[in-house]
Amino acid sequence: PTLKETVGKYFYIGAAVNTSCVWERNTVEANIVKDNFNSIVAENCMKGEIIHPEENRYDWRDADQTMTFAEKHGLTVFGHCLVWHSQPPRWMFTDDKGKPVTREVLIDRMYHHITTVVSHYRGRIKGWDVVNEAFNEDGTLRHTPYYNIIGPDYIELAFRFAHAADPNAELYYNDYNMSTPAKREGVCKLVRALKAKGIRIDAVGMQSHNGYNYPDLKQYEASIDSIAACGVKVQMTELDLNMLPNPKSFGGAEISQRYQYNKEYNPYVKGLDKKAQKVFDSRYLTLFDIYRRHAAQIERVTLWGVTDATSWLNDWPIPGRTNYPLLFDRAGKAKKVVKEIVKMYK
Ligand code: G3I
Repeated sequence: PTLKETVGKYFYIGAAVNTSCVWERNTVEANIVKDNFNSIVAENCMKGEIIHPEENRYDWRDADQTMTFAEKHGLTVFGHCLVWHSQPPRWMFTDDKGKPVTREVLIDRMYHHITTVVSHYRGRIKGWDVVNEAFNEDGTLRHTPYYNIIGPDYIELAFRFAHAADPNAELYYNDYNMSTPAKREGVCKLVRALKAKGIRIDAVGMQSHNGYNYPDLKQYEASIDSIAACGVKVQMTELDLNMLPNPKSFGGAEISQRYQYNKEYNPYVKGLDKKAQKVFDSRYLTLFDIYRRHAAQIERVTLWGVTDATSWLNDWPIPGRTNYPLLFDRAGKAKKVVKEIVKMYK
């Protein structure tokens, strides 16, 4: 049996896909997705910067192909993401003289962006990450251009606009480091506030860009419980496992070579050694054990990528690393732990 056949009985199991996968240029990844997952997220092509390059121009090509690929292979699509300070439509916050737009103008632009994108896929997307990464680690709202120009109510406006454009679509708030207690509290407060106003929110995404030694798994579980206690589902939206140590500080391209080949920073250029592989396997098993025990609270688990070869973690925080964060290796072979996960969910 495959992941979708056993894990898929408990919640959606999926992967973020890039454009080579959905156009089936990367047939290795396309086949992995068809065979092992029941759902996908577009890794990049539904983000504002790509789908809405100019105020009066949308570029649907890759996003439409993502839908075509999904519908051809019976995959459920989760939309990512409508409002994010990173990779927003480039023209969003300034007028043609380069001056910041007013609150009214930005609300209007946000309204048109959300309405157009959500309506374009009305009835075809299960749910949307409406707002992404709006919180600081201390639980306060991040001072993004949306916050600075519109004020804190940009979040509820975004949810209202998305709901109006597709009343049947689920709506999510999505963020990283969701195990940090203060951040989790901030997000829970937001969920309760939206619900108190009668604004639709169905789930909170805990991105789960995890590492070999983080997050604190007690806090991770506590977050699942706290979020569920707010009356929404929990989603593991961007699961991966960074197997490389983070450098304390890093500069530009100039040090990237050193960084890539410096054993202190990248001890596994040629592959994980036995000890690291064991850590990788046990970490994934522990996570999937947590998900199984919390299955009633979890709506989906989405891996952030398909194979190690194309993971964003090869390029973060400095381009050109060799990382091993996912369940399928560089050649597209399922790692040993996949069998054990499948068995765990039988
Ligand atoms: O496609 C262009 C290519 O044409 C160009 O030559 C090249 C030069 O930089 O850039 C390519 O685009 C890159 C794109 O990934 C596709 O590879 C962008 O520069 C790069 O910034 C972009 O990174 C993405 C990042 O979000 C920023 O949008 C990663 O792939 C993607 O995995 C990552 O995903 C985010 C989630 O959306 C939100 N949560 C965190 C997560 C990881 O950062």
